[in-house]
Amino acid sequence: MDRQVEVALWSGRFEEAPDAFAHRFGASLETDKAMAMQDIAGSIAHAHMLAAQGVISDEDASAIVDGLGAIRGEIEAGEFAWDSADEDVHMAIERVLTERIGAPGARLHTGRSRNDQVATDIRLLAKDLCGQLMEANVSLRQALLDAAEANQNVILPGYTHLQHAQPVSLAHHLLAYYWMLTRDFTRMKFARMAADASPLGAAALAGTTYPIDRQKTTDELGFSSAMPNSLDAVSDRDYLLDLEYACSVCAMHLSRLCEEIVLWSSTEFGFITLSDAWSTGSSIMPQKKNPDFAELVRGKTGRVVGSLVGLIVTMKGLPLAYNKDLQECKEGAIDAAVTVADCLRVAEGMISTWHVNAEAMLAASGTGFTAATDVADYLAKKGMPFREAHEVVGKLVLECEKRGIGLEDLSLEDFEAASALFGPDIVGTLDPAAIAAARNSFGGTGTQAVMEQIELARRTLESDQSQIR
Ligand code: ARG
Repeated sequence: MDRQVEVALWSGRFEEAPDAFAHRFGASLETDKAMAMQDIAGSIAHAHMLAAQGVISDEDASAIVDGLGAIRGEIEAGEFAWDSADEDVHMAIERVLTERIGAPGARLHTGRSRNDQVATDIRLLAKDLCGQLMEANVSLRQALLDAAEANQNVILPGYTHLQHAQPVSLAHHLLAYYWMLTRDFTRMKFARMAADASPLGAAALAGTTYPIDRQKTTDELGFSSAMPNSLDAVSDRDYLLDLEYACSVCAMHLSRLCEEIVLWSSTEFGFITLSDAWSTGSSIMPQKKNPDFAELVRGKTGRVVGSLVGLIVTMKGLPLAYNKDLQECKEGAIDAAVTVADCLRVAEGMISTWHVNAEAMLAASGTGFTAATDVADYLAKKGMPFREAHEVVGKLVLECEKRGIGLEDLSLEDFEAASALFGPDIVGTLDPAAIAAARNSFGGTGTQAVMEQIELARRTLESDQSQIR
């Protein structure tokens, strides 16, 4: 007889072997391997608790714990003999354990179901993945902060509608991403909190008649609390939605950052040069240096957001409690977390090694009439109503465009002809670096304001760093 039939955990009720393809279709072993360590930790906690409650003997518990410890060592060493005849990780580990230690292994599943078991494993894994994301998040933010500190005096055009708007410092521009990622950290932390409650002991759906101690397994597994409703405990996957949402927003932020990296490293912009280590060449065009990794981070946003949409659609319409549909929740969530953690590392790699072409940024920041607002402010500060000043400067810009020159090429007479309020000091108003440096309202790009912002960012980073573990 096929081993599959012999050991199917429900073999008492069944007379026929499962169809081979149906078995493969229903299996989740490959995906589940990511939570093998969590499965073993959950089983050990369950066995300890069963023994403490007198449901199984201490000898049985020791045999289980030792057996599981050996299996854990083999899995870690890559020596465990996985068998695709096992439907999922829970059955694989329990089967091998029972083959090795006999009756005690067969007692492990007392008062437990794969339904609370899988929910426990995924929650433990989700907490771990959130921690990894938070770590990678903080590490990229450190790189952004370092780059901001190093580039406080580098000026580039700030854009709206991708048209030159007003000059800003590169530090200020990079810090904008720092704050996006700071919010992502909060979302990742929230997702970890959402996963941080134990479903173990909910059994199949309704709890159990064994005198189990849910608080004991909750504590041993490091959960903050035990879920108070067994039906909710086995069927809730909200924490994975929270994780996928946190990943999706973070991926969207990284995609925006990487879009700028792609633009900035183009010949047209020439603002940055990526390091050789974080770019690629072309197999045919010898001159090429491509921002492949930035493009890939941008591209991977699709699959990350896809996981969020996929899971919320899977969950929609599921009646209580466990349904096999829930098996589909793991792959996308694990992939989203691993993908975003990788993307965070890639962004850090690019930013910490790129070369900033400060002259190109400065030169660009003087073009496209980026001083126009300040010229209008110059008039307004001398008493002209701002709307009127806007009109005067608009006409000057139009005149420049017709003559193919910039505001800085106008003579003092040109300015005076537009308004008697203009004087020789208008020249200082046209310097992009001075324009950026002077915007010291809170949150502005001015030298002082950015220094204060860097200080605040540093404090936020320190506080977040202390919350990872
Ligand atoms: N492999 C299953 C999953 O991932 C484990 C739970 C199976 N429970 C069941 N009643 N069939 O969801």
